[in-house]
This record gives sequence, C-alpha cells and structure tokens, in this order.
Amino acid sequence: MKRLRDLEPDFWRAPSAHNTRPWTLTYAGEEAAVGWDPARALPISDPTGRDLRLSLGAFVECCLIVCADAGLHIAFRPDPGPLRAGFLHEAEGPYETDFTIADVRARVAGRGEYHAGRLPEEVPLEGMRRLPCRDLADLLRAADLCQSGDRKVTRELRSWLRLTRRHRRRFLDGLGDRALALTKAEALALRASLALYPALRRLGLPRVLAGASRELLDYDGDVLVLVGPAHEDMAEDMAKDMADVEPGRALMRNWLRLSALGYTTYPLSQIIDWEPTRRVLADRLGVADPRTLLHVARVGRLTAPAAPPARLRP
Ligand SMILES: Cc1cc2nc3c(=O)[nH]c(=O)nc-3n(C[C@H](O)[C@H](O)[C@H](O)COP(=O)(O)O)c2cc1C
Repeated sequence: MKRLRDLEPDFWRAPSAHNTRPWTLTYAGEEAAVGWDPARALPISDPTGRDLRLSLGAFVECCLIVCADAGLHIAFRPDPGPLRAGFLHEAEGPYETDFTIADVRARVAGRGEYHAGRLPEEVPLEGMRRLPCRDLADLLRAADLCQSGDRKVTRELRSWLRLTRRHRRRFLDGLGDRALALTKAEALALRASLALYPALRRLGLPRVLAGASRELLDYDGDVLVLVGPAHEDMAEDMAKDMADVEPGRALMRNWLRLSALGYTTYPLSQIIDWEPTRRVLADRLGVADPRTLLHVARVGRLTAPAAPPARLRP
C-alpha cells in the first residue's frame, strides 16, 4: 500500500463535477477505502448523487489504470458503507486495461471551440448513445435558462468558481477562468454578473446566458449520452446507491479512449439535471426511464489545446 500512496497524484487526475475532487482514500492494513467527503458533494445541483457516483467511478477506474501501469496488482471491491464506495486491495494479477498513466495524464475536459465534424461511427464507446449537436441545441438553451435562473444552483456553482488570481483555492480545486476557456474580459464579466446576480436575474441575465449557450451546439458535431441503470434518490439509500460506481468507470474509459484518439469532451449535465429536458431527451433517444440518462457531453476536436484544471494534491 505504500506504493499506492506514491501514485496518488495520478489518481487525483480523475474528473469530477465542478472539479470538487470529492474522493477520499483511507489506508487500513492491506487495503485502501475509497470514499467521499460530504463537504465536497453538490447537494443543490446534484441532489440524487448521480454526478458524485460517476466521479467516484471515474476515480476508481483511474486508480486501477495507474496501478496496473505501475506494475501493481490492485483490484476494486465494492463495499458500500458510510461515506464509502468500496476498497482497493491487492489482487493476484494486474487490472486488465488498454490505458496507461500517460493516457490519464493527457486527458482533459475541453470547453473551447471545436472543429466541425462528426465522430466516426467505428470509435467504440461503452453504453453511450450519439446524437447530432443541433438536435440538442433547444434543450441546452432551455436547461441553461432554468439553471441560470435558479438562485441556489447559481450560489453553489459560484462557491466552486476560482475566477481571480488571488483566490486562495485557485490551485487546489474548482473551476478557474482558464479551465472554463474564458478570456480575461469574459471572466471579469462573469464575476461582475455573479456579484450582481439578484439584480441581473430580474433584468434577464438568464436569458442572455442561455442565448449564448444555444450557439454552443449550433454546428456539425456530436453529443454523447451515457445511459445506465436507474437509481433511486441518494437520500433514500445512499449506501446502496454508492455500490454502483460502474457507470462512472465506463465514463472514464470512454473519455480516455476518445482522448487517445484526439477527441475532447465538454459535459453539459444541465440537460439532464432538469427534469423536463431530461424527459424530452429520453424521448428523443427512445429510452423508457429518463433516470437512466447519466451523463451528456459534446465531443470533438478542439481548435486549441484545453487548459488543465486545478488539481488538489493529496
Ligand atoms: C459526472 C461529471 C459531470 C460533469 N458535468 C459538467 C458540466 O455539466 N459542465 C462542465 O463544464 N463540466 C462538467 N464536468 C467536467 C468537470 O468540470 C471536469 O472534469 C473537472 O473540472 C476536472 O477537469 P478535467 O476533467 O479536465 O480533469 C463534469 C465531470 C463529471 C465527472
């Protein structure tokens, strides 16, 4: 387990919603418990724990890949408990994976401009459905309108933004201006509009922001939707739900596969965060239970490299 500790900086390259980096690794004898810090959950924007589960799964997959590439024989055993998803433990052989530490280091979410072009059909994806970007432009606009008009969601998002160079957590976690692909002027405008949010909300700020988001999908590209098993609300049975980190593991493998082929993803969770747009999307995909839509992201080739986010080092 000592060698596991040395690999932690690469484990911590896993993605998480709002870059909250919610994971905890607690060493006990020959095992390490994978858990999460409730102070890093998003109770307002992720009330069912969907994104938390995905982030935990992505972290587990990341740990297994990094260990395998470093020559360690490590496996994951789901064993949900209070604030715990399961354990990393020694195994007979290495975790079998196509990916390496270099792949984990190279992956990054990209929110900049994308070249037009569809994802080739032959790119193999696990549990993901593809849709043309333009088919979702109306849903994104509606979801953004709802989200940016919601005071509590905006307050929670704001607490994870790191828009000034003086922010004390700038290098640790959250979303900075570079990772958000904002110019200096845009970062300033965002800060000002968030500071003045209550007033601007009444003056129609949500409509302006939602108008901008429409353009995001108004081009010839693809959106990917991860479809998985349904879950009950986290509040009802948090421990049981956390057992299922499999979709997050698949999400991580998909992102790594795409990244290795030169593609980047830009998650657009708001489309499934809001019940009405989630229902319409499920309808368009012919999916019977809207709760099984777990993740939405546009995918493509960036016109300029993406900036990595702040990454808390253990
Ligand atoms: C489950 C999940 C949901 C996410 N949802 C969004 C989203 O709605 N919008 C967004 O811009 N990024 C989203 N992200 C991307 C994270 O912000 C990103 O992973 C994090 O900032 C770390 O950056 P990295 O992926 O480049 O390492 C999501 C990531 C995960 C794992």
